[in-house]
Parts: sequence; C-alpha cells; structure tokens
Amino acid sequence: MSIHKSEIKKITTHQLQAMKDRGEKISMLTAYDYSMASLVDEAGIDIILVGDSASNVMAGHETTLPITLDQMIYHASSVVRAVKRAFVAVDIPFGSYQGNSSEALRSAIRIMKESGAHSVKMEGGAEIKESVTRILSAGVPVMGHLGLTPQSIYKFGTYSVRAKEEEEADKLIEDAKLLEACGCYAIVLEKIPAELAKRVSEEINIPTIGIGAGPHVDGQVLVIHDMLGITTEFKPRFLRQYADLGTTIKDAVTNYVKDVKAKDFPNDKESY
Ligand code: KIV
Repeated sequence: MSIHKSEIKKITTHQLQAMKDRGEKISMLTAYDYSMASLVDEAGIDIILVGDSASNVMAGHETTLPITLDQMIYHASSVVRAVKRAFVAVDIPFGSYQGNSSEALRSAIRIMKESGAHSVKMEGGAEIKESVTRILSAGVPVMGHLGLTPQSIYKFGTYSVRAKEEEEADKLIEDAKLLEACGCYAIVLEKIPAELAKRVSEEINIPTIGIGAGPHVDGQVLVIHDMLGITTEFKPRFLRQYADLGTTIKDAVTNYVKDVKAKDFPNDKESY
C-alpha cells in the first residue's frame, strides 16, 4: 500500500487539545464554498466550520432550520476539496439527529463519507446524549454546541444572551461536563456571559470555542460573511468586522455596470 504524505501538517483533534493545554488560542471561522475555504485555509485558520448558518448567509433563510442534510454535504464537500491544513467540522442540520440516534448516526456517516469532512457538530446537551454517544462510538469526532443554539430559536423566541439566570447556567455547566464525558473533542459556547464561559473553560479539559462568549474561552469563531462585512444588517456587539467587502463588491459591480453601459469594457487590449 502506498501512502501519499502531504507536506503540510494537518490540524487534528490532538493538536487542538494540545493548543488548549499550552494556552494557545484556537482560531475558527465558517466557510461554505471552495474559493472562500481556500483563502481561509491559506491564511492559517485552525478549524473551518461548515455551519448551518449557510442557511442564512448562503441561502437567505431567516433561520438555520430549513437547510437539508444534502445541502450541508454539498457545502462541506466543496470546502473539503479546498482545504490543505485546517480541521473541518460540519453542522448536522436540524431534523437529522434530534430524538433518533439511529438517524443521527446515519446523518453523521453520510457527512463523513460523502464530504470527506473531519468531524460533525451538534447542538444541545443531555437531550442529545444518546445520539452523541452513538456517533462517537462509530469513530466520528463530535464538537458540541451550547448556549444560544440557533436550531432551537423557536423555543427561545429570541437571539438574546442565554444562561444569564443561575438555573440555565447550572444546566449549561452540567451539559458541558456531560459532553466532555461522552468524548466530544470541543464545545462551541454561543452568546453566554463571559464569566460563565470562563467557568466552563476552567471546569472542563476539552477546548471551548466562543462566539459572543468573551475572551476567557480556548478559541473564537465568527461567521465569515459577518466578519468580512458582506452581511451588513447583522451587527451584534460581539462581532468585530475585519473588512468592508460589502462596499468593495458593490463599488466594483457599480463600476463594471458603468463601463459596460458606456461601451468602455472591453477595450482593444481586452479583445481577441
Ligand atoms: O452555524 C454556524 O455558523 C455556527 C457558529 C455560529 C458557531 O454554529
């Protein structure tokens, strides 16, 4: 058997754990297509999340609920083809794992087999324990997701900060410990108080990756369209915008339209 050895050292769950152990922060961003994933990977990101936020930023839905397993696999396989170094995690979409661990396992296996991704991500704690355990026992790494879990938005009724009250905070800590005990390799903590995120990160040994969870977590994640300024209507307090690509793209398209209308494009040098 010949083994093709890539020269680029790929990120693994072991390396992510080592990063937490030595206090190095983990960087994670979403990507949903080949071109963006190539750029993100080349820039040195540790984890690419093929998030079900694709439902919002790629498909224009109001929530993450409508995206299907087939659509997630399409996005994930496009990302995997681009990636040379990053670890790729893929959201199992709403309706493909809740309440049925056999279906959960089938969904996870389809994602891994058909996209070539490296792990799956699932929202929830004790209520999805059986599904998480079954997927892990099949050898598929699982990233948990607690706090504001957008697949439950109609239960919460709002996208505001979660676990501000003691009862919900205690449940979140319990869930984090349970996911760690099940064998999850990391947990996303979304939109919870910074002090609670700090406590969770100190009380569990696996990495925590925060979004709107303050600075004391082991890594940070943002939705790429938000941090690049492509989505303009979504400006939560936790979002740092690193570019204004929305304006750059609109200016470029405006100039293109102007040139075409003015018969200035293409010129002689741009023609055969
Ligand atoms: O789907 C997604 O993009 C996510 C992140 C916000 C963590 O779950």
